[in-house]
Amino acid sequence: MQSVPFFNYPKLFLHQEEKFMQIIRDVLSRGAFIMQKELEEFEEKLARFTGAKHAIGVSDGTNAITLGLRAAGVGPGDEVIFSSHTMVATPGAIVMAGAVPVPCDVDEDGLMDAEQAERLITPKTKMLMPTDLNGRIADMQKIQALAETAGLLVAEDAAQALGARYHGTGAGLFGAFGTFSFYPAKSLGCFGDGGGFVTNDDAIAAHVHAQRDHGRGGLGSAEVSVWGTNSRLDNVQAAILSHLIDTFDENIARRRSIASKYNEAFSEIAELTLPPAPGADPERFDTFQNYEIRSLRRDALRDYLGHQGIGTIIQWGGKAVHQFEDLGFSVDLPRTDEFFRQCLMIPMNHLLSDDDVDCVIEKVRAFHNL
Ligand SMILES: Cc1ncc(COP(=O)(O)O)c(C=O)c1O
Repeated sequence: MQSVPFFNYPKLFLHQEEKFMQIIRDVLSRGAFIMQKELEEFEEKLARFTGAKHAIGVSDGTNAITLGLRAAGVGPGDEVIFSSHTMVATPGAIVMAGAVPVPCDVDEDGLMDAEQAERLITPKTKMLMPTDLNGRIADMQKIQALAETAGLLVAEDAAQALGARYHGTGAGLFGAFGTFSFYPAKSLGCFGDGGGFVTNDDAIAAHVHAQRDHGRGGLGSAEVSVWGTNSRLDNVQAAILSHLIDTFDENIARRRSIASKYNEAFSEIAELTLPPAPGADPERFDTFQNYEIRSLRRDALRDYLGHQGIGTIIQWGGKAVHQFEDLGFSVDLPRTDEFFRQCLMIPMNHLLSDDDVDCVIEKVRAFHNL
């Protein structure tokens, strides 16, 4: 029986093994482990790719958020509104910056709902932080309008959305800063942890640049200007990312083509809600970090696919952030709650073969007697 894992981790390395070994050998044999030219090269490429004035490599997508909040002056006494369909990393980073995370209900795509966000604003609210979930940017026109009216900052958790666009602007560039994750299963994934930070604001960039290396003033400078930490992107990971970003457009194109195939193959299944197809909205360019469907028989579908060798995941282990009661949340977010009774991710990544995609399609259709 053909099986399709949700994500084939060995293939991430093996599909270009020789090239990766060459890159790794080159970096390691020069002893170029930390803060070397590959990091600067990757940062230049990331800035060019996103269109950001500044791009900074950091240790991971979570610390990128904390550093950004501190640089933007968000901390103790401030509230930050975030969308509850996100990784716990988003509110975790807000807490690590000393601020209070306030969960917000989602729209039909699982993204921050600006009208719900408006109801949560208090005199302590300082920032709106939507997550660009599954490679789709939140409704930034509404969110930016709300922020302007209420005098709030905006920043994006764009961990899942490198390369996505909305009305011509790239993910990460809608507010004070944007953050990316290069965790292996991310669309641009390295061989361990990695993160990126983008901003058009010179002062925020300088602050994050210093913070990621103990407050020091940059490559080779020992002068300490602010309190910082160790949140550096390893040079070997930077070298891998620098290679992968050169062909990242192809990676995204492959994801979008798989999404189109899925949308077409499942369009007649009334009990499924599918993500919007690529191109359905000319003002959007979604990158399909994930392909998250909703099903009225989610658990039965998941069991069936599992028995048929198809890997699936319910995002975040099956819970939206506000459902983790031990973290002190006690709010009702009806639309997010309903989303989490139905949502399921099926295999979606650039390493899937055509056979893999056909196999997933066949099994999902078979469950629905097609
Ligand atoms: C939406 C979102 N935010 C934050 C993160 C955290 O990124 P990292 O694992 O690189 O710290 C992730 C990654 O899993 C994510 O998907």
